[in-house]
Amino acid sequence: MTIDLIFTVITYVVLVIFLGGFLYKIWLYATTPAPLKIPTTPAPTSAIGVSGRLASEVIFFKSLFKGNKWIWLGGYLLHVAFFLLILRHLRYFMDPIPEILIILQQAGIYGGMFLLVPILYLAYRRFMVDRVRYISAFGDFFILFLLLSIVLSGIGLKYFYRTNIMDVKMFIMGILTFHPAKFPDSGLFIVHYSLILFFLVYFPFSKLMHSGGIFFSPTLNQIDNPREKRHSIS
Ligand code: HEM
Repeated sequence: MTIDLIFTVITYVVLVIFLGGFLYKIWLYATTPAPLKIPTTPAPTSAIGVSGRLASEVIFFKSLFKGNKWIWLGGYLLHVAFFLLILRHLRYFMDPIPEILIILQQAGIYGGMFLLVPILYLAYRRFMVDRVRYISAFGDFFILFLLLSIVLSGIGLKYFYRTNIMDVKMFIMGILTFHPAKFPDSGLFIVHYSLILFFLVYFPFSKLMHSGGIFFSPTLNQIDNPREKRHSIS
């Protein structure tokens, strides 16, 4: 088997595991009974209010902000930088590339470099603050290590061992259109890409599922109306 075929097959297998695992977890969250009415008060009394509450959590990490300003800052910067970096990477997945993504390319590069700061801060906190280390599990350290490795290999690709990004785009577009193409034959790209494949396989089985799970948190998604309406378990 050629390396092109190997990476094509592995990519499809990884995508099936990622999408299947993600959807399976969402299905589990959606069908888990929520027997008690437990919105964290003061809570919205309408469905629109609950949508606003969830939006403020997803966009601003509102309750984390109330709880701890330093963790909020570290976590928020991590997610914003990651988001900008994802926008930059979308150029490999689209043809033609929308104007807005072209404008945001530079911001994505800064986001990628800056991502190192919150990753290192959050890792420092896990290792050095006794009470945080005490409640940390393997997965808490591992995801920071994995992200750090992906970011460092990406920075290496951009500044030290460049790969042909047209080959990268052709490979990715080949995957998306089911017309497999040549895999970019650059050592560091193999590392960057393999780490991302691992990230995707790990995603549904890790704390990264908080991205989908937040919408199913009873303390956040329930309407505060137990005095007006009978609460039934679904
Ligand atoms: C978890 C997801 C990812 C993270 C955290 C990540 C991280 C990074 C970072 C920090 C850079 C350097 C800054 C930049 O050029 O934007 C970079 C570059 C790069 N990444 Fe990623 N990356 C991810 C996903 C991907 C994927 C899915 C691909 C494959 C299409 C990819 C291919 C590349 C390439 C080819 C470069 C070099 C860009 C250049 O030479 O201009 N990355 N990555």
